[in-house]
Formats: sequence, structure tokens, C-alpha cells
Amino acid sequence: MTVVLIAGGFGSLGTAIAGRAEQAGASVVRTGRRPGAGGLAHDVREEADWRRVVDTVLERHGRLDVLVNAAGGLGDTPQDVLSATPQAWHELLDSHVVGSWLGCRELIGRAWSHPVSIVNLSSTAGQLATPSMVAYGAMKAAVQHLTTSVALYCARAGLPIRCNAVAPALVDGGIRDDVLATVAADRDDALTRYLSRVPSGRLVDPAEVADTVWHLAVGGGPSLTGQVVTVAGGLGLS
Ligand SMILES: NC(=O)c1ccc[n+]([C@@H]2O[C@H](COP(=O)([O-])OP(=O)(O)OC[C@H]3O[C@@H](n4cnc5c(N)ncnc54)[C@H](OP(=O)(O)O)[C@@H]3O)[C@@H](O)[C@H]2O)c1
Repeated sequence: MTVVLIAGGFGSLGTAIAGRAEQAGASVVRTGRRPGAGGLAHDVREEADWRRVVDTVLERHGRLDVLVNAAGGLGDTPQDVLSATPQAWHELLDSHVVGSWLGCRELIGRAWSHPVSIVNLSSTAGQLATPSMVAYGAMKAAVQHLTTSVALYCARAGLPIRCNAVAPALVDGGIRDDVLATVAADRDDALTRYLSRVPSGRLVDPAEVADTVWHLAVGGGPSLTGQVVTVAGGLGLS
């Protein structure tokens, strides 16, 4: 049976990804700083937490096939180019970038006799300029760089580890309202302004992200690595 570890697994996207994996018959372990029922306590910024969490998954399930890095939020706001604080940058760096890297490193450091797949959560905020949330955007760009670097490292080293990323546009749920608040004070106005830039005219459904994560995690073959798949209804194409 496929065993899936989802860091940040009790958030909006983590929950959707867990549901998709369970629907496919996988065993899912979800983590978070305040985990829900059956989950593991886990701060992705802590090296020791990663070691303990992966050890626990292996003890309980005997294997680990997929790691999804879905932890972290928008961080402190306002976060525009002038107002973002160094504290906001450091907090986001630790949770999104260092946290995801620690997860990748924890898997790379272990011996695997079967294929292992890592999927990181990036964002269109890491592909397009985001002056109203500059620190968050920079972190999601860094997650894409981390993804390609880990993929290349593993391929060159002959390790059976693939690493890919999904970059959604604004998703319905989760950090949506925090993001919209950086666009305009009035939520409806912010949503209208945001959607005017999205060719499909709609927010991304969490299920679309979950399907894409799942395809990258278990679909394709050993050559499907180092890719960032954008799920954005055409945002940024023109
Ligand atoms: N929602 C969107 O529109 C969207 C779009 C593009 C990309 N993304 C990305 O998708 C991922 C998930 O977003 P989401 O919308 O599901 O956010 P969310 O609902 O806020 O979930 C994030 C989860 O991460 C956990 N978390 C935060 N800091 C953590 C830490 N240091 N260690 C462990 N867990 C931590 C939180 O739980 P605790 O606080 O209990 O730990 C929370 O459950 C993020 O990387 C985000 O950047 C989201």
C-alpha cells in the first residue's frame, strides 16, 4: 500500500490532498503544529521533528512512498515592499523554504529500496511579481528552486527520489482571505480585482490541486522529476 506523509496536512490543501490519497487507497499520515485526530505533532522548522516523524511513519507503516510539503501560511501582513518586516521574512523563510528543505533532506539521507516521491507546494505568487506580498512570493519562488535542485541532486546521485512542485493560483479556502486582504480592504472588491486577472474567471478548487499533487506523486515514471505544474486557470499566460 502507498504510504503518504503530508506536512501541514490539516490545512485546507493538506486536507484535500489527504482525501485524494485516501480515495486512491493510500495510507495517509498528516502532521502539523496543532495536529487533528490521528495526526503527528510536527514543526517543519525543526530538524529533530522531521527525524521523529519519518521514524514514526516507518515504524507504523513499514514504508514511506510520498512526502507532500504543504505547511505554511501567508505570514504577517501588511507585507508590501515597504511594510514587510524582517520578522515576517524570517518566519516565512523558515516555514516554507527551510521546512521543505529539511523534509527533502530527511528523505535523501535515508536508504530506499523503492521509488519515493516528494511534492512541494509553490504558488503563482512565486512566478509573478507580488508587490503586495513580497516575502511570501519570494518564498514560493525559492520553493521552486529547491524543487529543481533536489530533483537534479537525486537524479545525478542515482537515488530513487523524484521531486516536483505544484504552483496553484489563489485557491478557494485556506489562506484565500488573507491573500485577498492584501489586494484591497473590501473582500468583494479584492475578489473582483483578483479574478479580473484570471482568464478562467474563477478561484482554483482544492480538488484540482489535490489531483495534480497526486498525479505527480504516483503517476508518471522515474523521469517525471524537477517539474513545476501550474494550476491557475491561465493566470500569467499573457
Ligand atoms: N490556499 C491557496 O490559495 C494557496 C495557493 C498557492 C499555494 N498555496 C500553498 O499551499 C500550502 C498550503 O496552503 P493552505 O491554503 O492549505 O494553508 P492553510 O490552510 O493555512 O494550511 C497550512 C497548514 O500548515 C500548518 N503549518 C504552518 N506552519 C507550520 C509549521 N511550522 N510546521 C508544521 N505545520 C505548519 C498549519 O497548521 P498549524 O498552524 O497547526 O501548524 C496549517 O494547517 C502552503 O504552502 C501555501 O503557500 C496555497
